[in-house]
Parts: sequence; C-alpha cells; structure tokens
Amino acid sequence: MKSGRVSHTALKVGFIILALNEKAEWKSRLPQNLAALTERLILAAGVFGYGRRIMSLNKKPWSVRLYEYAETKTPGTFKGIGERKIFMDEQVLAAIDAGAKQVLVLGAGFDTLCLRLAPQFPQVEFFEVDHPATSAAKAKGVAQEGQPENMTLLATDLNETPLSVLMQKTERWDISAQSVVIAEGLFIYLKEDVVLQVFREIAACTGPGTRAAFSHGVMIKKHRLANAMLRLIGEPWLSSCTSANLPGYIGPGWSVIATQGADAGRNLEAYAVVEQC
Ligand SMILES: C[S@@+](CC[C@H](N)C(=O)[O-])C[C@H]1O[C@@H](n2cnc3c(N)ncnc32)[C@H](O)[C@@H]1O
Repeated sequence: MKSGRVSHTALKVGFIILALNEKAEWKSRLPQNLAALTERLILAAGVFGYGRRIMSLNKKPWSVRLYEYAETKTPGTFKGIGERKIFMDEQVLAAIDAGAKQVLVLGAGFDTLCLRLAPQFPQVEFFEVDHPATSAAKAKGVAQEGQPENMTLLATDLNETPLSVLMQKTERWDISAQSVVIAEGLFIYLKEDVVLQVFREIAACTGPGTRAAFSHGVMIKKHRLANAMLRLIGEPWLSSCTSANLPGYIGPGWSVIATQGADAGRNLEAYAVVEQC
C-alpha cells in the first residue's frame, strides 16, 4: 500500500462494522462497545471523507442494503467482517485462557480489540503494529479514549522492518513469553513470500505455545472486479489460499488448530488459528 497516508481499507473495515451494527441481529452478536468505539476512533483520526456526515449516511438503511448487495457479488465482504471480528475476539480470549501473556495485533487499523480487552486483562500486555500514517491516526483516538497502561502502539512498515527486529527492541515485549498474534485482513494484502516471512518472524520473537489467529484470502482471482478497484486505491489483494493449503501458506513449525468461514471457497476470506509446534 502507499505509505504516508492512512489506510483506506482500514477505514472501510470500520465503516462496514458501523453499517453491520445497524442490523439488530448483528448488534447483539458483535463484541460489546465495538461499533461505538470504532466510530470514535475514526472520527478522532480526522481523515477527509470519513467524517461525521459521511458516517451517518453510511448507516442509513439504503447504505446497509448496498453493502448487502455488494456481498452478493463478493461474499464475505459485509457479514464476513463481523464474523472475522467475533472469531478474533474468541481466539484471543481462548489464548489468554490457555496462558498467553502478550497479545500482538498486526496491521491493526482501527480495530478495537486491544482497547477493549487491555483493561479487562491487566496481567496481559497488548501491542498493535501498523504503518506509520495509520498508526498515528489511530493514536489520536487511543489518546482520546485513554491509552491503557498495558497497551503499546508500534508504528512501522513490516515490509521494511522485520517483525522480530521490531519486537526485540520493544521494551515491554518479552520474546520468550507465550503470546497470541492477530493478523486480521492483512495477509490478503501481502505476497505469499511475505506471509511466510511473517510466520518465521512471529516464531523468532515469541515463546512456546504461541498462537496466531488470522484471516486469509480464498481464491482472490475469482473477484477480479473488486480487486481492480482496490488496485486503484493502491491496496490490491496479493495472496490467497484455501484452508486445506494453509500448511504451505504459513510454512513449517505451526499446526492448524481450527479454521472457519471458507464456505466451499465462496467467501473472499476464511479464518484460522494455528499454534507453534
Ligand atoms: C484491511 S486493513 C485491516 C485493519 C484491521 N486489522 C481490521 O481488520 O480492522 C489492513 C491493515 O494492515 C496495515 N498494513 C498493510 N500492510 C502493512 C505493512 N507492510 N506494515 C504494517 N501494516 C500494514 C494497513 O495499514 C491496514 O491498517
């Protein structure tokens, strides 16, 4: 993606959550406070085109119907985002229950998981990594909310700085601690060799029993029109794999614990949780 500007796809994910939250069945399913917090973070970022007026239009019934129509063309791009958020919350809670002492969210965008869970788990350290421009925009909202003591924001381009190098110089990060790493809506924007590299890097800076929960594209070539539009904003989809091919996509040293969402290859994305072995 283009460096120097706030990620449009991160803002779009936030807008999708706000629209999804207008549907009663989703309002009750999404993690508590997720939509309200997302709205405040995006407004605080102050990005042109994502202000209060557009946000209110985005929540109108006709706009929600447009999202639903778009989902018939590219399944998984509306309700799939809600399923993804629920999946990641569940995996982080399960990992903490299993002994994880650190939570690291890669390509965090305007995600609220760390802000929501850090106060609930003061014994766990929470970290977010994103491109400098997006991280700086997010930081405004985090400061406004009151940054939890156990939450750290890290600004870096993971294509330029290997994750293990970044984490080794992060004071509060313990490279030997059992951790859980989240990569939601990120790998689809990275080339396959970069995804392999990220998994090697996670293994190099975390302790035994570490898990990674992530979403990944599935057969992106089927969605040429949507990808052509993303190419125009400089954030094209670059890699995908089926759930069955995950071992090759993430590389050795990981065992797949659970997968969800592939829907026989119809959905744009599926989700998985893997553990170091
Ligand atoms: C589609 S957004 C997803 C945001 C968030 N994970 C969510 O699902 O709400 C992708 C995010 O990954 C970040 N990202 C993409 N490439 C990156 C890189 N090389 N280094 C750091 N962050 C990156 C973008 O800035 C953006 O915030």
